[in-house]
Amino acid sequence: MKAIVLYDSNYGNTQSIAETIAGALDPMAATAVPVGSFKAEELHAGDLLVVGSPINGWRPTARITEALSSLGADQLRGVRAAAFDTRLHIFIHGDAAKKISASLQEHGAEIIAPPHAFYVQKSEGPLDAGESANAAEWAASLKQLAT
Ligand SMILES: Cc1cc2nc3c(=O)[nH]c(=O)nc-3n(C[C@H](O)[C@H](O)[C@H](O)COP(=O)(O)O)c2cc1C
Repeated sequence: MKAIVLYDSNYGNTQSIAETIAGALDPMAATAVPVGSFKAEELHAGDLLVVGSPINGWRPTARITEALSSLGADQLRGVRAAAFDTRLHIFIHGDAAKKISASLQEHGAEIIAPPHAFYVQKSEGPLDAGESANAAEWAASLKQLAT
């Protein structure tokens, strides 16, 4: 099983979570891939695709939305998938992970875990204390669910 952790990030916080997840999944077979370098044709049935985005204006970034909507209708058939976002502690924060998860499913992926949120203290970060450890823990649970 190969794993790709696809992410977008404005200030590096989502990138940091993505890299922690890739490291915890399996440093040999998991790679954190920025959205500009994503090649969907490198994914095959049985692989794991984790997608993460900051919430920007109540939704995933335009780059993540475009990368997912450019996939073929059935392009993720047989791929296991999960989504996360980074967000602020505000009353109405909107959502990115749920929207990403729905899009992954629409393109044929099997969703193996509920969408997950990680929190930043301010727009530029830093991540809340403990979120890197939480990301490693979440990745360990994904690894179990994917094998
Ligand atoms: C233009 C813009 C819009 C944002 N909109 C939201 C939002 O709707 N909800 C929210 O919780 N955070 C929002 N944020 C804060 C982001 O969630 C935060 O910047 C992000 O998690 C940091 O991750 P990054 O360093 O990977 O970009 C916004 C930030 C920017 C710059």
